[in-house]
Amino acid sequence: MTYVEIAWYLHELAAKSPRVELKSIGKTFENRDIWLVHIKPTAKEGTKKRDAIWMEGGIHAREWISEAVTLQLLDKLASDDTTLTRNIDIYCVPIANPDGYEYSRNTDRLWRKNRAIDPSMERDCPGVDLNRNWSTGYGVGASTNPCSEVYQGSAPFSELETRALKKEMTRVSSVNNLRLVMAVHSFGQKLYHPWGFTKKEAPNTAEMKKAGLAFAQAAAKGSRGRKGAQYEVTSSSELYLASGATDDWAKATLDVPYAYTLELPDEGLHGFVLPSNFIKPAAQDVWRGMKKLIPMVLNK
Ligand code: ARG
Ligand code: ZN
Repeated sequence: MTYVEIAWYLHELAAKSPRVELKSIGKTFENRDIWLVHIKPTAKEGTKKRDAIWMEGGIHAREWISEAVTLQLLDKLASDDTTLTRNIDIYCVPIANPDGYEYSRNTDRLWRKNRAIDPSMERDCPGVDLNRNWSTGYGVGASTNPCSEVYQGSAPFSELETRALKKEMTRVSSVNNLRLVMAVHSFGQKLYHPWGFTKKEAPNTAEMKKAGLAFAQAAAKGSRGRKGAQYEVTSSSELYLASGATDDWAKATLDVPYAYTLELPDEGLHGFVLPSNFIKPAAQDVWRGMKKLIPMVLNK
């Protein structure tokens, strides 16, 4: 889908589902809205702070499967009438980098960053890697060269997108108990837990591994005679050291007990340029995984 089609889809979801609220949490450099979907609990409002989960899709422009799967999850979650979502708030930004996404669709399929131009720098290389622009560990495994694919930006939170996400995640974590942050990427079929910026072990690692393995096991089960994708659960720093990512920031700053980066299919044959017939099975696998993961991350 184009960005505009995604925006229509989200508006329709909100119009047809009484649980769903849609709001813009800010604008991009090219003036596109950054949409936040809020799926409210079906249980009557209680007085105590409710548990919440946060999902982020599409922070990297070329990882189209991220938006596609995230939208399918929203569809499932919005119509869920089980105990799974009865008492929780679900927040999701399915397309966190709209400018980059459109640039990837229209001009350069393998574009990764946003499309911001820093006027003070007079450079011919636009774009910041939004998953290097958060403050946690800032600079490690990132580049100060604006022409690099992993350009960290002029400062932490120099970008409109990361600032909007940070502000809203901070707000959510003050009104809810934010239990889970899931940043959806591709590719590699991995479920990463923090840290990414250091080899040191993050708080709650054993629990993140355990819940992550439950996700992976359910995802691998498959359905309708089809085998599911195998996800490996491991620390981000096993991949390469990288800082300024959403999951590390959520863990370090908001103290979110369960923070992950999910790398969707495939394992590299098609890589970023994944045919669209991969969308449905990937979404089914992740949905089965999430149904196991969500109850495990909530307060008992
Ligand atoms: N492929 C992702 C990236 O390079 C992985 C991020 C993993 N998380 C992390 N905190 N480093 O941005
Ligand atoms: Zn990515």
